[in-house]
Amino acid sequence: MRPLSARLQISVRVLADLILLNASLALALLPELLFSQKSRAELFQLWLPVALFLSLAGPGLFYVMGFYTKGRSYMSKYKALVVLQAAGILFMAAAVCLYFFRLQPAFPRSAFLATWLGASLLLVGARLWAQIWRRVVLHEHQQEHAIVKNHQDSVLVIGGAGYVGSALLPKLLDQGYRVRLLDCFLYGDEPIKPFMQHPNLEIQRGDFRHVDNVVAAMKGMNAVVHLGGLVGDPACAIDEELTIQINLIATRMIAQVAKGAGISRFVFASSCSVYGASDHILNERSKLNPVSLYAKSKIASENVLLAIRDNGFEPVILRFGTIYGLSGRTRFDLVVNLLAAKALVDKIITVHGRDQWRPFLHVHDAARSVQAALEADSDSVSPIIFNVGSDEQNLTLGQVGELIHAMVPDSVIHCKEDNVDRRNYRVEFRRIRETLGFQPVWKLEAGVQQVLDAIRSGKVTNYQDSKYSNVKFLSAPDAREQLPVMEDWVSKYLDSNEVMVNA
Ligand SMILES: NC(=O)c1ccc[n+]([C@@H]2O[C@H](COP(=O)([O-])OP(=O)(O)OC[C@H]3O[C@@H](n4cnc5c(N)ncnc54)[C@H](O)[C@@H]3O)[C@@H](O)[C@H]2O)c1
Repeated sequence: MRPLSARLQISVRVLADLILLNASLALALLPELLFSQKSRAELFQLWLPVALFLSLAGPGLFYVMGFYTKGRSYMSKYKALVVLQAAGILFMAAAVCLYFFRLQPAFPRSAFLATWLGASLLLVGARLWAQIWRRVVLHEHQQEHAIVKNHQDSVLVIGGAGYVGSALLPKLLDQGYRVRLLDCFLYGDEPIKPFMQHPNLEIQRGDFRHVDNVVAAMKGMNAVVHLGGLVGDPACAIDEELTIQINLIATRMIAQVAKGAGISRFVFASSCSVYGASDHILNERSKLNPVSLYAKSKIASENVLLAIRDNGFEPVILRFGTIYGLSGRTRFDLVVNLLAAKALVDKIITVHGRDQWRPFLHVHDAARSVQAALEADSDSVSPIIFNVGSDEQNLTLGQVGELIHAMVPDSVIHCKEDNVDRRNYRVEFRRIRETLGFQPVWKLEAGVQQVLDAIRSGKVTNYQDSKYSNVKFLSAPDAREQLPVMEDWVSKYLDSNEVMVNA
């Protein structure tokens, strides 16, 4: 069953509301038809103005009140209240109009109140029913569908041994995907050790900047997830040339190889860092304002993908929020994990730039969004770029500090305004919610609790170890030997005056 496109879904919902409003009116007038002495012409005169008013004003008012846009994100109890409130406004407006125009014959008060009551019940009931249907029936169907569909799917995950990748791999394997992993294991293979023997996992160790590695990795695959790269502002600032090679030039080459190999679905991990510093609430159409090479490399990669997309090549760009929580390769160079660890171990929560906003996202929700992007139909991913997160998890760094403090009360908060990180962005997530039906399930408290438990249980012994931090790890000379800046072969050939092979 293909999900309906967003526009079609809205039209169906408007039509359903029109039918419900008119059905409640027809039901309320039924006693008049059966038991009163009124002729059919008189009943028609009663029915017509009210039916017209409800049909024209109803959907307009419901639209303004967010029924067809924000409505789905309301918790069910609030949704019922919003619907009752909208019905109240609609029928009060109808009563005022009827009073003003004093139409003859006068619409019976009892029928008017019955229409109001009936419409409120039907509108609330329909939404409750839709919710039950989505939760129970569709969920079951999707699970069955996923198992059948995924057995045909082979996915290449590039950079899959990292923080997000090690959360994604078990999810894909559990769903029956055949997965090939291309990674140079910069931070080791520990994160994926538990699944190494999985019959559906194939591991290819290699640098994705080399076209031959990429061509070999794509053989027999029908989707690509690209999570690889140098990640984070400080890590990318260490060696700018290396960053551009890995984060931009390689992305272009990988996407072109995928397109050439006939692979259509290409999921690319971008970042909400592209919004940089802004006081507005930002959506996918907002102006970008990168404040680091990392963010610039993401924007440039997005542009490369947008430039080469066509009917046969469908990139899906996921702009992740700031990630937290545990995975096979937990990072402690990310603000939530770092502050939680510092609170527990060092008893101090140092917040730099407490008024700066960030959208937070659990690493397992980031992985779920990748799966949603892989499985979405072509219509749903036609907007291409999706912010990934939830409106409720837009928090200031000060709020994060307070939340951690409440969970580790014997720590102290220390706020500093000497922040070198200028990022400040609050992000809207309506598109991914309404188009892909994706909502994060993790809350920040639960992610912080995970980190605290991992330290208390000894699973993480030293959060300051360089294996947990991209910038610390990449600053060590031996780590960089693994990823040398590649020779610039263009200038090698251009600068040479000799023919290099015997011709
Ligand atoms: N973690 C976050 O908070 C966050 C936020 C927004 C976006 N993202 C994006 O999500 C993606 C995954 O992030 P992450 O936190 O898992 O990163 P990570 O640093 O944990 O993992 C990156 C992986 O890429 C691999 N890699 C790097 N260069 C390579 C090369 N040349 N050849 C082969 N493999 C190479 C590394 O070995 C590593 O396994 C990245 O694209 C990142 O920009 C992450």
